[in-house]
Amino acid sequence: MSHAQQHVLASAIVLAMIVVFGIHVFLFPMYTSSPPARHTKISTYEQTLCRTNLKNVRVPAEWRNPCPKYGIVSVVQGGKLGNQIWEYASVWATARRTGLEPFMPRCILKTLEEHFENLSIPPLSYIGRCTLDIGQVVNSLGQWNSTEQNIIIPRHAAYWSLILVWPDDVRREFTFKANLRSYANTLLKEVARRFNLTEPTFVSIHVRRTDYVDYLWQKFKVHPAPVSYYLAAMDYFVGKYRNVVFVVASDNIVWCRYNLRTKRHRVSFVSDADGRGPGKDLAVLSACNHSIIDYGTYGSFGAILAAGETVVYNVTAYFSTLIAEVLPNWRVMS
Ligand SMILES: *[C@@H]1O[C@H](CO)[C@@H](O)[C@H](O)[C@H]1NC(C)=O
Ligand SMILES: *[C@@H]1O[C@H](CO)[C@@H](O)[C@H](O)[C@H]1NC(C)=O
Ligand SMILES: *[C@@H]1O[C@H](CO)[C@@H](O)[C@H](O)[C@H]1NC(C)=O
Ligand SMILES: *[C@@H]1O[C@H](CO)[C@@H](O)[C@H](O)[C@H]1NC(C)=O
Ligand SMILES: *[C@@H]1O[C@H](CO)[C@@H](O)[C@H](O)[C@H]1NC(C)=O
Repeated sequence: MSHAQQHVLASAIVLAMIVVFGIHVFLFPMYTSSPPARHTKISTYEQTLCRTNLKNVRVPAEWRNPCPKYGIVSVVQGGKLGNQIWEYASVWATARRTGLEPFMPRCILKTLEEHFENLSIPPLSYIGRCTLDIGQVVNSLGQWNSTEQNIIIPRHAAYWSLILVWPDDVRREFTFKANLRSYANTLLKEVARRFNLTEPTFVSIHVRRTDYVDYLWQKFKVHPAPVSYYLAAMDYFVGKYRNVVFVVASDNIVWCRYNLRTKRHRVSFVSDADGRGPGKDLAVLSACNHSIIDYGTYGSFGAILAAGETVVYNVTAYFSTLIAEVLPNWRVMS
């Protein structure tokens, strides 16, 4: 072969390779019906669901779990303790409804495990070495139509109507740690002793103020519940039960001390002035016999755990008010 012939042959081979490569890359995908799989390692994916860096969060020891055969259910972290409880419960209920396996991002489990014991949903890191097809992710039960699809619930989700299909089971899922249970019991005994009551009826009042006042106005053009609402709800319980003592918790306990102090009723203000200790307050709300709440994820969950009669403030079409439509011992007041 002459030098020139060799050159032509080499060019032809290169050209042929370019054509074959081009057909594979640009033409073949047009003939495949399903979108190309975009697999990502679950240990990497878990970080995308978290607000906080997972580098400092312990990876649980058990790594040997088989990879899920079908899709999984998980959620994006958002908000504070109240939000994250509802995010967890939304995953729990969605998994129960669909039969898919639930897994939680470790950042949410870290928040919840400070307060609850024996939570049943394992961390995503249990299946961290497995892969997830990003093309098979939907973010609600409404879009979910195949067991291959994963449901990744958006942050701040509170699937209350689905969760409250199983109210007793959800209460069992959220068992406070022993130290919080004993804190709440000791505190309530002390309150009863102060009012010299042997058989008190504890009615909690949760008052959500601070940032929520702006949030309600920005989002729904709703003013915060007036003092008259809390007083009317208190009168309702005093009219119905004996030896009622009110236990007030709030993110602004100073506002409560000023506005809800009344000579007519026994009232005890239990929150720290700096609004810290949300787990302790939630344990107290849950240990009370009945509940008065205004709105929000935190108070409504405390009332669900208390499982007594609940009075909730009337905010049209708002989720904490709507719960009264599914739980028979909830009542709406204005
Ligand atoms: C939680 O789990 C531990 C260890 O498995 C067990 O000893 C304990 O009784 C459980 N607590 C509850 C409330 O079920
Ligand atoms: C199933 O869900 C996917 C993703 O939401 C959607 O693209 C597809 O059209 C759905 N298929 C059917 C049959 O509803
Ligand atoms: C506490 O209640 C008991 C029984 O009702 C009563 O005898 C006692 O005087 C009360 N003590 C106070 C300090 O109110
Ligand atoms: C009311 O709550 C207290 C504290 O949790 C509890 O000890 C008591 O048994 C409850 N009373 C009723 C009637 O359920
Ligand atoms: C709640 O508010 C709506 C709208 O203002 C009103 O129609 C409804 O009667 C109220 N419900 C109660 C129980 O007050």
